[in-house]
Amino acid sequence: MSNFPAPSIFITGGAGFIGSALIRLLIGQGKWHIVNIDKLTYAGNLESLASVADHPNYRFTQIDICNRAALDKLFAEHSPAGVIHLAAESHVDRSIHGPGDFIQTNINGTFTLLEAARAYWLNLTGSAKDNFRFHHVSTDEVFGSLGDTGLFTEENSYQPNSPYSASKAASDHLVRAWHHTYGLPTVMTNCSNNYGPFQFPEKLIPLMIHNAISGKSLPIYGLGDNVRDWLEVDDHARALQLVFEQSAVGETWNIGGNNEKTNLQVVDTLCALLDKLQPRTDGLSYTTQKINVADRPGHDKRYAIDASKIQRELGWKPVETFATGLEKTVRWYLENSQWVSNVISGEYRHWVSKNYGERS
Ligand code: NAD
Ligand code: DAU
Repeated sequence: MSNFPAPSIFITGGAGFIGSALIRLLIGQGKWHIVNIDKLTYAGNLESLASVADHPNYRFTQIDICNRAALDKLFAEHSPAGVIHLAAESHVDRSIHGPGDFIQTNINGTFTLLEAARAYWLNLTGSAKDNFRFHHVSTDEVFGSLGDTGLFTEENSYQPNSPYSASKAASDHLVRAWHHTYGLPTVMTNCSNNYGPFQFPEKLIPLMIHNAISGKSLPIYGLGDNVRDWLEVDDHARALQLVFEQSAVGETWNIGGNNEKTNLQVVDTLCALLDKLQPRTDGLSYTTQKINVADRPGHDKRYAIDASKIQRELGWKPVETFATGLEKTVRWYLENSQWVSNVISGEYRHWVSKNYGERS
């Protein structure tokens, strides 16, 4: 048995961008005890959890979600009240160049985790069984690409276009089937593009900030007119907690910030913020570093979320506007250049052993 006072929850992918934001939020509240299950791929960074690493309610365990035996052992050890499943390969460009890891983690990994959770849940009784939740964290990309108008609702049909979104769509379908066929108490969320502190600098916003201040070019795919609907990561984390704690079983929820922007608008806004906060020494604007590069193959044109269900039924709404969230984010990257340097240099892989000695 866990030596945590109950209740504990498993968070998979907790060393990633969104998972670490969720863990920082939950540990700050002191209400849950968190077991962070993460394989620590290139995207897993325990330095993002430095503020909670020594908290008595937090435990990290380096496990691949494809490892059934390790998962079974962990369920037996901690008897969690639920699972919030974020572990995934998450970057679309990587999925185009090498889809194998996406099939393995996003599909086989979700299958393995579902089976481990089901075996554990079947042996529960009473309120522990009734209240158990398997919360699958997914993406709006499973719905495909929108034209100039319209919004994704929870009723949208699936039309994934990239290897990443196809693998996430497959995992969504597995979760749905495990509820429908076996009665596993699942809930699911599909969210739009996140941005904020601690995001790996391969994604648009942190990449552009890093390249701009490093004097590198700002590569815009195609014409830069693709549209994404941006949400600050802490707003996503708050929505995840609400759904995990309050959603009825079997429900799905769309989460988005109602912040549709073309990629060019995003990059121009970033450049304007950087021109204000850390001007170039030659007096030129960072916009002069923009270049157009070849488009992403199969590039989805537009995503936009109708988040009215979660607003109406669970009372969630984002705290940040795009203006406040982006300025907060730019300031964070300027003030935490060491975090980015450690990622770029690979030093983040040694952060835990350097600061705390080896641990599991
Ligand atoms: P991320 O790439 O930053 O983090 C993923 C984490 O999962 C990493 O810590 C990694 O080490 C871990 N992981 C990968 N494979 C694993 C495995 N086999 N076993 C255990 N751990 C493994 O991703 P993110 O941006 O934080 O996204 C988290 C989740 O949210 C993903 O499921 C993603 O599909 C979804 N999502 C992301 C966004 C976004 O804009 N970033 C939007 C909507 C949904
Ligand atoms: O919509 C949710 C999804 O958002 C999540 O499910 C994914 O995990 C997450 O990575 C994100 O996917 P995108 O492909 O939208 O994000 P990315 O940051 O890679 O790209 C955002 C947009 O910017 C996209 O239209 C491609 C473009 N882009 C991206 C990069 C890295 C560029 O123009 N230049 C770039 O260098």
